[in-house]
Amino acid sequence: MATVKYDESTRIYPGNDAPSVDRLNIDIADGEFLVLVGPSGSGKSTALRMLAGLEEVNGGKIWIGDRDVTNLSPKDRDVAMVFQNYALYPHMSVADNMGFALKIAGVDKGEIRKRVEEAAKILDLEPYLERKPKALSGGQRQRVAMGRAIVRSPQVFLMDEPLSNLDAKLRVQTRTQIASLQRRLGVTTVYVTHDQVEAMTMGDRIAVLKDGILQQVATPREMYDSPANVFVAGFIGSPAMNLVSVPVTDGGVKFGSHTLPVSRDALAGGGSNVIVGVRPEDVEVTSGEGLELTVDVVEELGADAYVYGTPTDENIRLEGGDDALAKPFIARVDGRRVPMKGDKVFVQPNADHMHVFNADSGARLSG
Ligand SMILES: Nc1ncnc2c1ncn2[C@@H]1O[C@H](COP(=O)(O)OP(=O)(O)OP(=O)(O)O)[C@@H](O)[C@H]1O
Ligand SMILES: [Mg+2]
Repeated sequence: MATVKYDESTRIYPGNDAPSVDRLNIDIADGEFLVLVGPSGSGKSTALRMLAGLEEVNGGKIWIGDRDVTNLSPKDRDVAMVFQNYALYPHMSVADNMGFALKIAGVDKGEIRKRVEEAAKILDLEPYLERKPKALSGGQRQRVAMGRAIVRSPQVFLMDEPLSNLDAKLRVQTRTQIASLQRRLGVTTVYVTHDQVEAMTMGDRIAVLKDGILQQVATPREMYDSPANVFVAGFIGSPAMNLVSVPVTDGGVKFGSHTLPVSRDALAGGGSNVIVGVRPEDVEVTSGEGLELTVDVVEELGADAYVYGTPTDENIRLEGGDDALAKPFIARVDGRRVPMKGDKVFVQPNADHMHVFNADSGARLSG
């Protein structure tokens, strides 16, 4: 087991101007499950491959425990990687697939057998050891790929979207299994996904990347309650946080007809406008005060309903939409008291769960 440290780690691919991973700093604790999450092209796989030794590091360093591994070859780093396409050898049995790396490393047959059997037991693969991969289900194949990493008892597990080939239901089951397995084995793990739900449910901490730049590292709870900037606020959480640009007034900010109290200190760094963020579950539907919406769609879920609306004031647009499609404002309401499509409703953030961001930089202003 070991700690992992990204220390100003930078990767610029040959022929590119911008770094794909730009001065990344993350300290990962011994035994921690760290999830790297971000949109496509944000540099997640590159960061993972730099740690694996599969990608050159052009600036900064990478540490595993107290070893500077920046220039070590992959085989000398004592890491095991699980890829998206498990790349099992089709002509080999499950047991041989799992033991292959040990065989190459010259480990003796009895020891290989022992470690494969242990891993198979942990992963519920004992009945399948003599089968070929093609005679397994997707979930079983995924577990064989995990088994290959486990038998090597490495210092660090690296996983790059290992669940993306599974169907939705199996993905949910398997993510729970991987998270509990990791906790049982206690091996430091870096796990890449673009799925923020996977990140929230699996990680001890989450690191959010955008354009190769680290946005925030925090526990799922911290990240949800105090996103560091507008990007993280909009990326973590589903349905996404509502983000509305509003004018600053005396003693607060103007949210439709209502003035939301915000301390002068919190607004000190902002300009004449700030972005107010409110999660759908923190929206209060009021009678006649706040931001007026026209209800476009009501999604009934039984206990709750989600109301999707458009501000009646055409000057107010929500952040995070694309140009073609105005982003709706989303409010969660009691499933027994839902408005109708076409109704006008007024919404306000619950003052205890409101987020304020700088309109230019996107940085968080409120505590
Ligand atoms: N071999 C390469 N040569 C040049 N540019 C590359 C290479 N590999 C990746 N890139 C670029 O580096 C950036 C980060 O890519 P990376 O694969 O790390 O993203 P990612 O976050 O893993 O995305 P995804 O979710 O789609 O897998 C992208 O802009 C990509 O185009
Ligand atoms: Mg990737």
